[in-house]
Amino acid sequence: MKKLLKKPLKKILIKAGLKMDPAKQYLYSSVPPYKLITNLTEEELLSLMRHEAHRIEKSIYNDIFESKFNIYNEKAKRIKEICKELEQRNLDENEPTLVWAKQILTAFNDLKSNFIEPYSKVPQSYDLSKAQEYVDFVQQRRSVRVWHDKQPSKDELEALADQCIDAARWAPSSGNRQPWQFKVLTEQQDKDLLKKIKEEHCTSAPLLIFIGMDRRLYGSLSLKQFETALYIDAGAAIMNMVGTAQSTGMGTCWNHFGRDMIDSREINKKIYLNFCEHMAIPDYIEPVAILAIGAPAYMPPTPARVKVQSLKIV
Ligand SMILES: Cc1cc2nc3c(=O)[nH]c(=O)nc-3n(C[C@H](O)[C@H](O)[C@H](O)COP(=O)(O)O)c2cc1C
Repeated sequence: MKKLLKKPLKKILIKAGLKMDPAKQYLYSSVPPYKLITNLTEEELLSLMRHEAHRIEKSIYNDIFESKFNIYNEKAKRIKEICKELEQRNLDENEPTLVWAKQILTAFNDLKSNFIEPYSKVPQSYDLSKAQEYVDFVQQRRSVRVWHDKQPSKDELEALADQCIDAARWAPSSGNRQPWQFKVLTEQQDKDLLKKIKEEHCTSAPLLIFIGMDRRLYGSLSLKQFETALYIDAGAAIMNMVGTAQSTGMGTCWNHFGRDMIDSREINKKIYLNFCEHMAIPDYIEPVAILAIGAPAYMPPTPARVKVQSLKIV
C-alpha cells in the first residue's frame, strides 16, 4: 500500500515543484521549486556556478570528496550545464567566474594535485604581536559626520570609490556568491534625492556609496528572500570599504538604509522609489546601507565601548 502511494505522491510533489525530478538534470537549484537554467539571468548563473564550484573545492579541505563523490559529481555536471548555457549566451570566455569554475572542472579527477597544490601559496610565518597594531588601527576609526571644507576632487573621490569597491569584492561572502551592487554618488543633485530620508551629515558628505544586495542570487539558491547571509555579506564588504577609506585618512559614516527603515513611513517609501528611479537601481536590489566618505573636519570623541570581558559569554 505504502509503495503504491509513493509513486503518485512523488509525481504530485514534482509537479508542485517540491521535489526534484531526477530525469530533468537541467532543472537546477538546491531548494525546490527548481528553476530552469535557461530561466536564470547571467548574474544568477554565475553566482550559482561560484557556489557549486566553491562547494566542490571545499569538499577537499573537509576530506569528504571521495565519500560524497556522487554529490560533487552532480555539482560538476551542473557547472557544465551552466557553462553550456553561458556559451550560448556568448558570455566572454575570460569572465573570472567561468575561468575559475572551468579550472575546477578540468582538475576534477584529482583536485588536490591539479588545483589545490598548483594554485596554493606558502603561508607567511605568524607573528602574534602584530595583532595589536591592527586593533589600534581599528580603534582609531570613528564615524565622521562633520566634513572638512577642503575635499579631494570629484575624480579623486571616484577613484577612491573604485578602490573601496575593489576592497569590498575581496570580502568573504556566503558560498562565494558575491551579491554586492554599489552606486557611487558624487553629484549634489543625486545626494539630495536622499534628503528627508537620511540625515544632513549623509547628504552633505563629499562621497556616498549605496550598498545594495542582489536578492536574486539568494532566491535562486534557496528561495528565501531574506536569508540572513544577505545582510552579513553586505556588512563584511562595507567594513572592507571603511578600512580602505580609513587607511587614506578619510573619514566614513555607515548610514543605515535597510528595508525596515524605508518601509517605516510612506514618505520614506516614496523617496526611496524616486532615488531608485533616478539612480537606475533595479527592484531586485535589497538596500542595506549608504556609506558616507569625506575628509573629516575633526575626529569626534571616542564613544564608550563595552569591555572585552563583558563581551565574552562565560
Ligand atoms: C548597521 C549600522 C547602521 C548605522 N546607521 C547609522 C545611521 O543611519 N546614521 C548615523 O549617523 N550613524 C549610523 N551608524 C554609525 C553608528 O552610530 C556608530 O558606528 C556608533 O555610534 C559607534 O560610533 P563609532 O563608529 O564612531 O565608533 C551605523 C552603524 C552601523 C554598523
